[in-house]
Amino acid sequence: MSTPQIPFSAYQFEIYGRGLGGERPALPTTYDDLQARAKAELSDTAYGYVAGGAGEERTMRANREAFDRHRLVPRLLGEVAQRDLSRRVLNTTLNAPIVLGPVGVLSIVHPDGELAVARACNALGVTHCLSNAASSTMEDVAAATPDAPRWFQLYPPNDPEIRRSLVERAEAAGNEAIVVTLDTLTMPWRPRDITTAYLPFLVGEGIANYTSDPVFRSRLEKTPEEDPQGAIQRWAMTFPNPGMTWDDLAALRDETDLPLLVKGVLHPDDARRAVDLGIDGVIVSNHGGRQVDGSIGALDALPGVVDAVPDGTPVLLDSGVRTGSDVLKALALGAQAVLIARPYVWGLALGGEEGVTQIVRGLLADLDLSLAMCGLKGVDEVDERVLVARP
Ligand code: FNR
Repeated sequence: MSTPQIPFSAYQFEIYGRGLGGERPALPTTYDDLQARAKAELSDTAYGYVAGGAGEERTMRANREAFDRHRLVPRLLGEVAQRDLSRRVLNTTLNAPIVLGPVGVLSIVHPDGELAVARACNALGVTHCLSNAASSTMEDVAAATPDAPRWFQLYPPNDPEIRRSLVERAEAAGNEAIVVTLDTLTMPWRPRDITTAYLPFLVGEGIANYTSDPVFRSRLEKTPEEDPQGAIQRWAMTFPNPGMTWDDLAALRDETDLPLLVKGVLHPDDARRAVDLGIDGVIVSNHGGRQVDGSIGALDALPGVVDAVPDGTPVLLDSGVRTGSDVLKALALGAQAVLIARPYVWGLALGGEEGVTQIVRGLLADLDLSLAMCGLKGVDEVDERVLVARP
C-alpha cells in the first residue's frame, strides 16, 4: 500500500502546533511585510536592485491590479478531502503548478545565493529555473539539486558559439528544459539602480556561468582569475543582443533537443511566431515590470496568448504572483503553471535556505487551501468558472 501524501496544507498545523510551544515562523507571512523587512535589512543597492522596476514602476502596479480585477467564487461541498496539485509541463512533472523563476545575482542578497534556493527546492521537490546570470555555475547548482527537476534560463548572448556552449552545458547538467528570456536583450532604464549607479554584473557578481564557460574564456586574453576586470568587460560586450532575430531563435531551436520555452511574451503574435518556429512553451511575463514602464499587466496579456497558441501548448504566467489565490486566478485564465520570483528572493535575503523554504511552503499551503475552499479537487479542475470580474 502506498503511503498517503502529506498535503501541502499540513504546514499550517505544523506552525500552529509549534505555536503551542511559542515558536512563530521566522519570517513575515505577508508579501508587504516581507519586503519591508528586507528593505530594513539589505543594503540600499541590493534592495533597490530586487525591488525596482523600469521607469515609474507602473508595470509592477499593473501586474497587481490585473490580479485584483478578477475575483474568485468559492463553491461548497466539492468533496475535496484529497487534492491533486501535480501538473505535467512538457517533460517535467511539477508537484504543484509553481516553478521558482530565474533570478540572477542572488549573491547580492545572501552569501549562499542560488545554492540555497537549489537546496530548498531539492528538499521540497519543487522545480526551479536557474538564471543564466547566476552567481553560481549551473554545474554546482545541479549538484545541489539531485532530486528535483530543474530548468535553465538562457539570455542568448550575441556570440553564437558562447550560446551553443551554454546550451550544451545546460543539457549536460541535467536540466529538463531551457527558458529563453527574450525581453532583456538590453539593459532597461531602472531609476533606482541609476540613482545608486549600481549594476552588480559590473562588479563581477552574477557572471559565474560566463567565467566558467570554456568558449567565453577562449575569448579572453587573460583568465578571469588573473584579470577579473577584463572578464567583466568581455561580459559587458557579450551580453547585450538587441539585434537578435527570429532566425537566431530558430538556430537555437536546432541546437538542442531539450524543450524550449520563451519568456517575456506579451503579444499573441509573438507567441504564435515562437510556436511556429518549434518553441514548445510560452511564458507570459513582463519581467516583473523591470523592462518597460507602463506595459500591460502580465495577467491581462495571458488570455490573448492562450487563445493564440495551438491547444496543448503550455502557457505559463509570470509577474506579480504573490498568493495561492493569485495562482488559482492564473490557472483559471489558462496558465498551466506560474513562476514566482520576488517573494522567494526576499525569503532568501532574510533567511537563506530556510527562508526560501518558509516562503515556498507557505505559498503551497495557501494554494492547496484556496483550491479546497473553491470546491476543487485538483488543479486540473480549475477553469474560468471559478472567476468573476471585480464588481
Ligand atoms: C529577475 N528576473 C529575471 N528573469 C530572467 O529571465 N533572468 C534573470 O536573470 C532574471 N533576474 C532577475 C533579477 C531580479 C532581482 C528580479 C527581481 C527579477 C525576472 C524574474 O524571472 C521574473 O520575471 C519577475 O521577477 C517576476 O515578477 P515578480 O513576480 O517577481 O514581481
